[in-house]
Amino acid sequence: MPRKIGVGIVGTGNIALLHTLGYKDCPEARIVALCDLNRGRAESFRAEAGLPASVEVYDSINKLYSNDKVDLVEILTPHASHAPLAVAAAEAGKHVSVQKPPAMTLSSYDHMVNAAHKAGVRFRVYENFRYHPPYARAFQLVRDGVIGRVEVVNVRMFGSVNCVGEYRGSKLRFPLHTLLWKIKESQNYKAPTLFDDGYHKHSIVQGFLGDVPGNEARVTAVRAWCRWQRLYKLVQLDSPSVIIYETAKANLYGTWNANVVKNLPMHSNYFGCDETLEITGSDGIIYAPGCTGNLFVGCECGGPGKPGVYWFSKEAGGHAPPFPAAGTWKSDTSMPTDWSQSFIDCTRHLASVLARDEWFDDRDPRPIHAEQGRQILKINIAIIRSLRNDGAKATLASIIDGPGVDDNEGVNVQDEAKDDSNVQDAIVQDDKNAG
Ligand SMILES: NC(=O)c1ccc[n+]([C@@H]2O[C@H](COP(=O)([O-])OP(=O)(O)OC[C@H]3O[C@@H](n4cnc5c(N)ncnc54)[C@H](O)[C@@H]3O)[C@@H](O)[C@H]2O)c1
Repeated sequence: MPRKIGVGIVGTGNIALLHTLGYKDCPEARIVALCDLNRGRAESFRAEAGLPASVEVYDSINKLYSNDKVDLVEILTPHASHAPLAVAAAEAGKHVSVQKPPAMTLSSYDHMVNAAHKAGVRFRVYENFRYHPPYARAFQLVRDGVIGRVEVVNVRMFGSVNCVGEYRGSKLRFPLHTLLWKIKESQNYKAPTLFDDGYHKHSIVQGFLGDVPGNEARVTAVRAWCRWQRLYKLVQLDSPSVIIYETAKANLYGTWNANVVKNLPMHSNYFGCDETLEITGSDGIIYAPGCTGNLFVGCECGGPGKPGVYWFSKEAGGHAPPFPAAGTWKSDTSMPTDWSQSFIDCTRHLASVLARDEWFDDRDPRPIHAEQGRQILKINIAIIRSLRNDGAKATLASIIDGPGVDDNEGVNVQDEAKDDSNVQDAIVQDDKNAG
């Protein structure tokens, strides 16, 4: 029996637990080493993730990269560090999987792809939303032509800080060390919604418009309308915001509408948000509620829809009076709909193709191929440019490397926010003030 693929995890912070779920009992791969600049964090992660003591823990990347048992490196560090870590991994002969957004600039993205190509190793961007089972099912419906050609993709995101459920014991959903880099210019363009989380949404919009066989529209320009919101006095949040994604054809486009309602009770074990996806095709509609969270769980009337996929199509063959020839709604809510499944499937898909010494099928819209990863990053960067020009149109053709605008607006964190407990106190205080 061939040896399992050995996986080295670089960065054992907030997302590491979800990211590594797929390696539990995985037939093709196993985690053999962890590395974090903060060694204590890696050690406690090993225990929390239930990994055996034989899993090596390092605080130096060189030690992990010189470990012969490591075949694949999963990079789960802040985006600005992805490129140097990925290039060094490729040069050490390791396959590379890098969390989204893969890089801050196109040149650093290209550097990673070229290094992997030169070293003859595999490179992929880890974007789990495309693996969310209802979205994977929606991809299949589009591929089967059930709604005709995709014309409009709308993502609706509701945010809240009033979550029911906990992620790793934190009400905040991230520890302060995570929050701090997410609101920095050099690490995230001060755009936790539009740049960091945005990569997922741009990937979904671009994915349905253009990455399913028969649908080849490319996003060519974006407009980012945003009204900054101060959250809990600490964070200047890039929301509410509405993004318009244009293609070369006027009737093919996407939107993403995100806002935070501070006290909206949100059923989510992960981050304080939930998404609904709507896809309009030339012959029908797909509607998929429930993603990161699950807004409708616990709703007495069942809410507008159990998580899953609903579609209306002329192919649906319904005869519902008074519109006998107009088709009917159908649904599939049988798949797992907890967001964690998207991570498990995304992790395992890579392990299974590597174990067979194969690569992803070009026609499969779920994995992000190198060219697609670059296109989504271009959208990401163009949105930052538009954001800084008060929503003006930013074409993807004009993006050469980064957003190209030096922005010094907004101080995101108050000086007193020195540790998690201060942030928690501030939240409690803010809640009291809000009555
Ligand atoms: N797929 C998703 O839904 C999702 C969700 C959250 C975060 N992410 C992505 O995962 C990445 C990490 O995010 P996070 O929230 O876990 O951040 P985090 O700050 O909680 O964790 C990052 C960890 O990396 C370590 N680190 C930083 N530089 C390092 C280096 N050079 N070598 C070794 N370790 C290093 C830090 O000490 C920290 O423990 C980001 O790119 C983020 O966008 C993805």
